Amino acid sequence: MSTRTLAILKPDSVAAGKAGAILAHLEKEGFTVLALKRLRLSQSQARAFYEVHEERPFYGSLVEFMTSGPVIPVALERAGDDAVPALRKAMGATNPEEADAGTIRKLYATNIERNAIHGSDSPENAALELGFFFSRAELIEA
Ligand code: RTP
Ligand code: MG
Repeated sequence: MSTRTLAILKPDSVAAGKAGAILAHLEKEGFTVLALKRLRLSQSQARAFYEVHEERPFYGSLVEFMTSGPVIPVALERAGDDAVPALRKAMGATNPEEADAGTIRKLYATNIERNAIHGSDSPENAALELGFFFSRAELIEA
């Protein structure tokens, strides 16, 4: 059995040329890249994706950051039932100052906002977020 989750390589890590290193890091953690694409989020797409944070003080700044350059959404698969928590563990804490050594955010993030990578936070949100970026056909194993 395997499970899936969604990562987004954020504008900071893509612009810094760290996409390949982060994908290699994820492969080392046991993830398979099922699908990926590179795109620039529109204001309305970024607002919709982070709608859950609409009332938070950082929402406007987050939307501005996420639309500031290309991102790389990645559909990930991993053996077992824990793809979602395994990705969150590999990412590290939201604030890189609090992230464990060796995590993606500790290695590649700049600050609490420009933190290199997004990861779905529950299996339900993983399903919704995979569907936000990828069609059913794109998620069929080749
Ligand atoms: P993500 O959703 O991107 O995987 O990050 P997360 O779960 O670790 O953190 P979350 O609380 O969902 O926040 C979403 C993103 O908003 C930005 N943020 N800025 N300035 C701030 O205090 C602040 N707090 C959060 C970050 O880019 C964070 O990843
Ligand atoms: Mg989150």
